[in-house]
Amino acid sequence: MSDLTRRKFLRTAAATGAAATALPACSSVNVATRRQSPVAIASANGVEAVRIAVERMQAGMRPVDAAVAGVEVVENDPKDSSVGLGGLPNEDGIVTLDACVMDGPSGLGGAVAHLENIKNPAQVALKVMRRTDHVLLVGAGALEFARAHGFKEEDLLTEESRRAWLRWREKRSSIDDWLSPEENGEHGTEWFEEFKDKTGTIHLGAVDANGQIGSCTTTSGLAFKIAGRVGDSPLLGCGNYCDNDVGTGGSTGRGEACILSNGGAFIVQQMALGKSPTDACLETVRRVVRMTKVKRLLDDKGRPNFQVKFYATNKQGQYGAAAMYPGKFAVCDADGPRREDLAALYEQR
Ligand code: GLY
Repeated sequence: MSDLTRRKFLRTAAATGAAATALPACSSVNVATRRQSPVAIASANGVEAVRIAVERMQAGMRPVDAAVAGVEVVENDPKDSSVGLGGLPNEDGIVTLDACVMDGPSGLGGAVAHLENIKNPAQVALKVMRRTDHVLLVGAGALEFARAHGFKEEDLLTEESRRAWLRWREKRSSIDDWLSPEENGEHGTEWFEEFKDKTGTIHLGAVDANGQIGSCTTTSGLAFKIAGRVGDSPLLGCGNYCDNDVGTGGSTGRGEACILSNGGAFIVQQMALGKSPTDACLETVRRVVRMTKVKRLLDDKGRPNFQVKFYATNKQGQYGAAAMYPGKFAVCDADGPRREDLAALYEQR
């Protein structure tokens, strides 16, 4: 870190009311050293998304718009069952999407929750940010708003996600009137198990060559969730947050844990206090562990029995990610798009 960057960080920390005595410890891993390159970090399903985001920032696009352009490829991908088209539906077989965006330079954000029939909720969230005086629109109102802005409605349920839902629905109970093939004496499959309790999502944090910041999170939420359930992804401060003086923080995985820990905002706060992105994410995972007390959420070793992943970038272009259990994340900087291992609090599940 150059002296210039060091002085700039100290001014930033003081301006944000942070403890200016602490320098950000350079992360031992995942330090982007070439500040002339924009940086984008995302969940592991976002390798193409971070490539696009960096390409757009190199062409001068604002980071929040580059983030939304990046996640669009995942929202449009029918094979990603955690986001947009092909996202797994709720318990009634209806796909509902959540997303939010945040723009560092303006300090503004926009979000939609429980949005049906529009495959690019992050783009609708951008419109909420830019074309309303509100931050969050939900349900039928969000859909009306999207229609007003010319978004086209379509059926987001693919053949594969419909079959996964039907399998789950038929197997849910033996005391209702839905019959699975097995209950009818036929051969069934267990392939839907891979979708059970599935959380996916894409978060993307973006920092351009001038240290301007933007971020975005988009999801279809928890598979087969109770109708009306909304996770962390559309909630600013939870599944996504950014502060143009500090950096970005975002989450994928069990949304309930991220909501209860205010994950996104907590990451940014930790970086403002001097932690590296990786350490800020790890501290957030520890916070989730501290806050997880009920038995049904703990394994036989007393550890949380779910996965949650956190991602961060700072204004200096450093990045990092951490999770409860091992996993990967996507990043793109001057070295190009790739997946890297995130820091895991527990080495084995
Ligand atoms: N993290 C996405 C969700 O729980 O909805």
